[in-house]
Amino acid sequence: MKIESLKSVPAGSVNTPLEPMPRLAAALGLTKEASGCPMDGTPSDSTRMAVRTAIAGTNAAKADAPCGLYIKRDDLTGLALGGNKARKLNYIVQYALENGYTALMTFGGVQTNHGRLTVAAAIRYGLKPILVLKGKKPNELSGNLLLDRLMGADIYFVDTTAADALPPDKQAAAKQRYLDECAAQIIAAYEAHGDKVLSVPVGGQTVIGSAGYIQAVPEIMAQMKAQNIRAKHLVVGYGSTGTFAGLWAGAKYYHAPFEVIGIPIEPDFRPIEETVDFINELSEYFEMGFTCRKEDLHLEFGFDSTDGAAGNTDTFSAASSCDRTTSDTPAAIGSAAAQAPTGYGGIGYNEPDAVTESYIELLARTEAIFVDPCYTGKVFHGYVDLLKRGVIRAEDGAIFMHTGGAPGLWTKEHLNHMQKSYWADEEKDHVHIFTL
Ligand SMILES: Cc1ncc(COP(=O)(O)O)c(C=O)c1O
Repeated sequence: MKIESLKSVPAGSVNTPLEPMPRLAAALGLTKEASGCPMDGTPSDSTRMAVRTAIAGTNAAKADAPCGLYIKRDDLTGLALGGNKARKLNYIVQYALENGYTALMTFGGVQTNHGRLTVAAAIRYGLKPILVLKGKKPNELSGNLLLDRLMGADIYFVDTTAADALPPDKQAAAKQRYLDECAAQIIAAYEAHGDKVLSVPVGGQTVIGSAGYIQAVPEIMAQMKAQNIRAKHLVVGYGSTGTFAGLWAGAKYYHAPFEVIGIPIEPDFRPIEETVDFINELSEYFEMGFTCRKEDLHLEFGFDSTDGAAGNTDTFSAASSCDRTTSDTPAAIGSAAAQAPTGYGGIGYNEPDAVTESYIELLARTEAIFVDPCYTGKVFHGYVDLLKRGVIRAEDGAIFMHTGGAPGLWTKEHLNHMQKSYWADEEKDHVHIFTL
């Protein structure tokens, strides 16, 4: 089937804005007007201080000034506060409706953004929303979970912590087996009431779902043409990888002028070989006529490849970390990353960390745009660091793909972690109280 003939519903909006980020460019010292590079030089005592020093005095940058830094606003896809999964769901819901499904079930972490958007898409097309969440039921409701319950989703928590007592090599399989058993039970219960349940994998990671990101490429290319934008790089998150894979396949098929660079959003990321296989599946299914090899993919991790230790992640100083691409280190990338938990992927999946938070602050204070602590804050960290190190260059044009996730800012764990930075006594210079 040709990709162009695949139908979709408009569950989420496409044609999201492609915008310049001149104030970010000024803060990074990447505009002509900027003198030097405020984030280079002597590392400050903390990343957050470096951010604040860099931003000071750069706010004169004009909103539409050419700067080489761009953001594709897929946080604004409209569906239930937006995010990348809307583009995938446009195709997945079309498939569900064409095939007579009455319920959409999906999986994820307790605070899954994909889950929120799947619930929303189900509701808007008259399907039952079912969420199967891996983890314990939190005592307090927050973030995406609140939105899921407001929309009336049926939620099932699957607690697999008992499997942590097993030998390490047996844990993942035992957890997956239990999850599969629970999912089968849940489906059977709905089917007993006459429903037909479409089970959507974690992250909407399906060939049909990735069509949404293949088709995002001609949209971006048309916007670049209309706005006279040149861009040689497009930086995007690498999670369940459907977004990265779709964009990569789309860029290849439509001869995009930009290379798609993936930033893993956790140290324990999906093996590259699986992504290569998935891209080749896309090519075959949609008759795209290309073959992808491992060395064709470009991922950036942000850790020091020489000793597995942290690279530059606690300062903004350039050139202190080694970049690693799939082509220069073909072996054991996944396991090396696992030993180096302080690259762009932070400490772990959805674990609060001060470095990612400092990049959330940087974009908020320069462009008033919010990235999130689980996904896009990490990808934005990678984007800025690659610019600082000259791996990508503003003069060539670099697009940051914002894939959403802002409700993550209001999850209990992240709020607790940010309390000290933004609300404790140390912030008294910025948070004032008048009392009558
Ligand atoms: C906000 C956000 N960005 C990026 C991603 C990663 O996208 P993918 O799973 O397609 O790699 C996700 C996945 O859930 C997400 O929620």
